[in-house]
Amino acid sequence: MQFPEYRARRMRRSESLRRLVRETRLTTDGLVYPLFVVPGKGVKREIPSMPGQHNVSVEKAVESAREAFDLGIPGVILFGTPEHKDAVGSEAWDDKGVIQRAIRDIKRAAPDLTVIADACFCEYTSHGHCGVLADGEVDNDASLDNLARTALSYAKAGVDLVAPSGMLDGFVGTTREALDEDGFEQVGILAYSAKYASAYYGPFRDAVDSAPKHGDRRGYQMDPANAQEAIREVTMDVAEGADIIMVKPALAYLDVIARVRDEIDLPLAAYNVSGEYAMLKAAGLNGWVDYDRVMMETLLGIRRAGADVIITYHAKEAARLLAKSP
Ligand code: PBG
Ligand code: ZN
Repeated sequence: MQFPEYRARRMRRSESLRRLVRETRLTTDGLVYPLFVVPGKGVKREIPSMPGQHNVSVEKAVESAREAFDLGIPGVILFGTPEHKDAVGSEAWDDKGVIQRAIRDIKRAAPDLTVIADACFCEYTSHGHCGVLADGEVDNDASLDNLARTALSYAKAGVDLVAPSGMLDGFVGTTREALDEDGFEQVGILAYSAKYASAYYGPFRDAVDSAPKHGDRRGYQMDPANAQEAIREVTMDVAEGADIIMVKPALAYLDVIARVRDEIDLPLAAYNVSGEYAMLKAAGLNGWVDYDRVMMETLLGIRRAGADVIITYHAKEAARLLAKSP
């Protein structure tokens, strides 16, 4: 193709021409909205570093999930905080924990909404690490036993997908086995397969008070420098029974999303994380960028990179805009 026979601008001249040749479409279909569930009643507390997002008690979480469903969003993902943290994070597998209650009540209020529950321990442990400690390090295999308990407890509450997020070796296989042994072979697994040790999780850790009290997560989450390794991680999770694989965060890792899309034949999710949300919000609230347009361009970029599913705090705002001009 050569100028002047070919003129690229011809197909950009009107909105209808642009719509005809558009390659990627952002729809509400792939969006998942995260909810932060806390103990108590009537709680709806804005998270300071995530304007527009809240810590909510179970009944408020049900309201918010119902609203997401009414906006056409197909799924929510739940994060919980316990009444009391302890060394092993035992409230994570308490059948009466906030997540378990939220799963039951949301499925009752909106049976057709997909309910996903994040399965990790950093929100539940006094030390803030994603498992049981032995000599100051996360003891992989001991933590897997607790993960199995937690996944089962979510399944009994009626969850659709369990999402193990601790980056423990074998976390997908353990979850799959535990679910199958108890007759929950229809409960799926959304695997946090390539989860990087990222500073972009800062606002999330404020929201659920899960920052490690000592050290950091670089001993289990991935080194941001590695893309090749992401393929190995994903390949292992596929072999262990993942139904959806995930890359997290999204924006500094669009190349990883694209690479996984090319090489792996499973539905792919990207997590547009708290720090990514906070940056857009801050710039938008200051009037430094056109928030709505920057948000839609960002989500479209994640979709164009190859993500089928986008977990994003922008989900409701995006769904409202898409309803106005799809
Ligand atoms: C828990 C977990 C984290 C996030 C999702 N699950 C934080 C972490 O690993 O410290 C981050 C989500 C976000 O930043 O939006 N393991
Ligand atoms: Zn964790």
